[in-house]
Amino acid sequence: MASESMMIMSFTTLTLLLLLSCSHLLSVASFQFEVGDNQGWVVPPANDSKIYNDWASENRFQIGDTVHFKYKKDSVMEVSESEYKNCNSTHPTFFSNTGTTVYKLDRPGLFYFISGSAGHCRRGQRMIIKVLSHEDAQSGGSGGGSSSASTAVAVLSYGGLIAQFAFLSYIF
Ligand SMILES: *[C@@H]1O[C@H](CO)[C@@H](O)[C@H](O)[C@H]1NC(C)=O
Ligand SMILES: *[C@@H]1O[C@H](CO)[C@@H](O)[C@H](O)[C@H]1NC(C)=O
Repeated sequence: MASESMMIMSFTTLTLLLLLSCSHLLSVASFQFEVGDNQGWVVPPANDSKIYNDWASENRFQIGDTVHFKYKKDSVMEVSESEYKNCNSTHPTFFSNTGTTVYKLDRPGLFYFISGSAGHCRRGQRMIIKVLSHEDAQSGGSGGGSSSASTAVAVLSYGGLIAQFAFLSYIF
């Protein structure tokens, strides 16, 4: 009787560990996006000022992905929604001016980026990125050639979360 329940327990543990290691592997499967593709992070042409939001809406961002900004004599800031709308660069939550910035999208929801250089944001050097939640990712949606792969990843990482939760309730 006792040994039987112990066997069940260790089998459960084994399954959980397996799921945990899967979810660990998945964290490696993130993707780096090149902001603005070849032209990088620059002031857009006057007749085409929405290039960054057009670019962002063509891509499918998921938690753990990174965005790479490449620029010269410029900067990149993450700001709030109202700061984005007003091109207010006085209190950014993130700032970089190294010329090459990799920013990790570490939560679902909206990220607001602007250039910190005077006048650049108003001329269109700004971008909103929407990071899908696990639920959004599972329900499919448009964009991205690899949507079935990302769905599989999302389902697996969701499974990993459940496993972690179950594992925690098991040890406490
Ligand atoms: C913007 O202007 C340039 C040259 O003046 C032109 O080549 C380009 O097609 C225009 N882009 C748009 C979106 O109108
Ligand atoms: C810019 O934002 C900061 C805080 O986010 C605020 O205190 C300040 O008044 C704003 N400036 C302008 C010009 O809106």
